[in-house]
Amino acid sequence: MSEYGKFITLEGGEGAGKTTQGELLVAALNKAGIETVLTREPGGTFGAEAIRDLVLSGTKDRWSGMTELLLMYAARIDHVEKLIRPALKRGAWVISDRFSDSSMAYQGYARGLGEKQVAAVDKAVMGSFAPDLTILFDIDPILTMKRVETRGEDLSRFDGETLEFHKTIRDAFLDIALKNEARFFTLDAAAPREAVHARILYAICSIYPDLAGQLGHAD
Ligand code: TYD
Repeated sequence: MSEYGKFITLEGGEGAGKTTQGELLVAALNKAGIETVLTREPGGTFGAEAIRDLVLSGTKDRWSGMTELLLMYAARIDHVEKLIRPALKRGAWVISDRFSDSSMAYQGYARGLGEKQVAAVDKAVMGSFAPDLTILFDIDPILTMKRVETRGEDLSRFDGETLEFHKTIRDAFLDIALKNEARFFTLDAAAPREAVHARILYAICSIYPDLAGQLGHAD
């Protein structure tokens, strides 16, 4: 077990900076000599990326909350079996831009399926597999909605949701973090990019103190 790599997930609402910070984190870990794989959900494998296209495109009412949930978990199990577990087994670290907590926040809380139902699906599909550390990018959705609009990317089915929806997502993640305190590290994603990066390294070093020297973090 000790030869296993670590599994770290990045969670939060749209446009919170997870993707950029994931890239910075991978660069820092690689520099420290740790093989690191950066991936994302829904997606990460050929099959899961195909499911991503299905679930993110089209009109808002294309899928019910339950269909969305099952598509997310179909993609997730492919991702875990083909990419995440093999990487961890060879000792690599895996950083995933979103994972199961997104299903709890979006489908469980915001789409109204409820915690119990999502937790039951998670247990049935994932068993006890869970991240070692989850970093929550917390930010007021009023700020991020502006970022998403100016990013110039195609908007997904979720980007077109109302401010109310994104507020629900923010509160959902904060609630999930409270209920899973041991695994979560919540940071202020409105802070400058370098400051957020430093907080992430701090979080990792506080859990894995042996890495403090390698990551050059003296906080
Ligand atoms: P993406 O464009 O990757 O968003 P972001 O850059 O904010 O991560 O789209 C992923 C969308 O899918 C995002 O709106 C959240 C949603 N999602 C769920 O609803 N449930 C899930 O389980 C996952 C992984 C994502």
